[in-house]
Parts: sequence; structure tokens; C-alpha cells
Amino acid sequence: METKCYKASDLDDLIKLNELKTLLIEGKLVVFPTETVYGLGGNALNKDSSKAIYEAKGRPSDNPLIVHIARKEDVKLYARIISEDAAKLMDAFWPGPITFIFDKTDIVPKETTGGLDTVALRMPNHPIAQKLILFTGVPIAAPSANISGRPSSTQFKHVYEDFNGRVDAVIDGGESLIGLESTVIDVTDKPVILRPGAITKSMIEKVLSYTIHDLSGQKPTEKVKSPGMKYTHYKPKGDVVLLHGEIDKVKAFIDQSSANLDKTAIICPNEYTNTFIGYRTRPIGEANNSKSIAKNIFSALRDMDEWDMDKIFIYYNETDEVSYAVMNRLIKASGYQIVSL
Ligand code: TXA
Ligand code: MG
Repeated sequence: METKCYKASDLDDLIKLNELKTLLIEGKLVVFPTETVYGLGGNALNKDSSKAIYEAKGRPSDNPLIVHIARKEDVKLYARIISEDAAKLMDAFWPGPITFIFDKTDIVPKETTGGLDTVALRMPNHPIAQKLILFTGVPIAAPSANISGRPSSTQFKHVYEDFNGRVDAVIDGGESLIGLESTVIDVTDKPVILRPGAITKSMIEKVLSYTIHDLSGQKPTEKVKSPGMKYTHYKPKGDVVLLHGEIDKVKAFIDQSSANLDKTAIICPNEYTNTFIGYRTRPIGEANNSKSIAKNIFSALRDMDEWDMDKIFIYYNETDEVSYAVMNRLIKASGYQIVSL
């Protein structure tokens, strides 16, 4: 399949915008940028298009897709009941990096929701995403634009690597501003967080004026509410071990691991690269700047494959709520190989 590449300015050209619209309306796939990560988009109301998304991504078909909209008033087309709390949260955070789970209406096909009676809705805050959805006139189902199991794409080169030849079009929107996927919150009942993100638990609680639960810490063997929780995620090809605790102990642990230096890398905050002299390091930002780390983490994980590393140590300590969301991704990337030191 030939994949057409579009750049951001192409969306100002009506002819090109129409080409993209036609592709989506016909059930074809278009990768587009959002403020969180890139999305692998298709017409959410077309079950064949959703099937094509699963196929292109190599994703198990029981892992539901997020449906992206461009206008708040469209929620009622796809959500059966909108609680008062959900309305408050949408007002506070949309457009933006938060996804709400609602009971779905009949027009949303089960192929889009992985067979569930609920639907995940998000209104992204990215001009290209908004323009594409609004102009196309249909909601766009889009999982993160990565081959299933790989780190999400936060740069156009990741998208190209995974999807050139597998989708009909890709739009280059540069680097993702946030770099972590949206917060997912189930609002079918009392709100619960299913995936942490840049919109944090305390930001949500401030709007609701009460405390809510976060179920994202569940281990994959437990009964899962969000089907995405049970699959391998974000994994480079090499073996990943996540280390946290005191730097001296971490250094000693790595030194004792008798790793093959040519094939070993350490992902860590900038200030620790000096500690790991002799090892290949991949800095991810200042330790206390969780937003910058969030932005870098998926590309660091992807670099491990580009560098062809067999053994990857990640040194990271949680510092705040965004950092907690980063940690959530790192735990998965390590396949739950975590050492506290
Ligand atoms: O930031 C994002 O959310 C990005 C961009 C493209 O919008 N999308 C994204 O999609 O991360 P994906 O498919 O990679 O992750 C969606 C998560 C999965 O863990 C999935 O299981 C969960 O949301 N999810 C989707 N629909 C759900 C539903 N009806 N009930 C529970 N969880 C749901
Ligand atoms: Mg994903």
C-alpha cells in the first residue's frame, strides 16, 4: 500500500483536506498528531474501518478504541448518559488530554468498542486533530499510532517507522507536546481513573470536590476493567529492568549485573548520566521536571531498538503526579521487572 505523507500546512489547503476527508469517509486509515501522542485514525462509525485499525496495529480486537470528537455537544450522540460529574470534568478539561468512558449509544459499533457496551470519548486539543475531525464530519477512532506492544509514537519518524506501507496517509505534526497518552476515567458510575496522565487525580478531585479511586495500578493478572491493562505495552526488544531507590545502590546493582557493555543501555534523568560512566546512557530530562520526562520517555524506549540494545536499565524515581503517570508506563515497559533499592 502506498502511504501518502502530509505536512501540517497541507491542512490549510482545501484540496488536500478534502483528500484526507475522503479517505476517512471511505473507511481508510490516517495517522494524525494529537497533543498526547499520534493516533491511528479511522471512521469510528464504520465497523470495517475499526477492523482495519486493529489489523494495521496488530492489536487484539477486544482492546477498545478511543473515539475522538471535535465538539463538546457531540458527546450526546455517542454517550447514553452524561452524569453531572462527567459534565463538570468535560467542562474543566476538554479539549485536552483526558478520555471519558460512557455507556454507548447504538450508533457506535461494537467493533469500535472491542465488543463493550461502553465507549471512550476524547476531544483533543491539537489544531490538526480538531480540524481533521471537524472537517471530516465523523468521529475518529484512534488508538495510539504504534504497532501493538511498541512504545507510543511521539515523533513523526516513529509513525513512519511503524506505519509506512500499512496505512493510507500520515500527517506530520512534529513532536507531541505532552508525550503520554490521555488520562482515562470511567464515568459510567462514580468516577474512577483507569489510566493516569497529564490530567492528574488531584486536578480531577479539585473539580469534583471529593476523592476518587485510581485503578491503574492493577497487575495484569487481576480482573481488569480497562482491557488495555492486560497486554504487553511499550516494550523495546531488549530485556528491561526498572530500578528505583538510591543512586549508589542502583549503580552497584548495575555494576554487578555483569552486563555486556556493548549491548547495555541505561535510561535515566540527565543528572545521573555522569554516575553511569562507561555505560551507554539515554538522558530523559531533569529528574524534577516530570513534564519534560513525560515528553521524552517513549522516544527513549524506541531508541533502545534503534541502538539494538539487549539489556536496558531504567533508573527513575517518582516525584509528583505526572511522574506517577510516567512510572505507570515504565512499569509496563519493564514487563513488571522492578527492583527497589
Ligand atoms: O492520548 C490518547 O489517549 C491517545 C490519542 C491518540 O488520543 N490514544 C490512546 O489510545 O492512547 P489507546 O488505544 O492506545 O489506549 C486507549 C486506552 C486502552 O487502555 C483501552 O483499553 C482504554 O483506553 N479504553 C478504551 N475504550 C475503553 C472502554 N470502553 N472501557 C474501558 N477502557 C477503555
Ligand atoms: Mg496505546
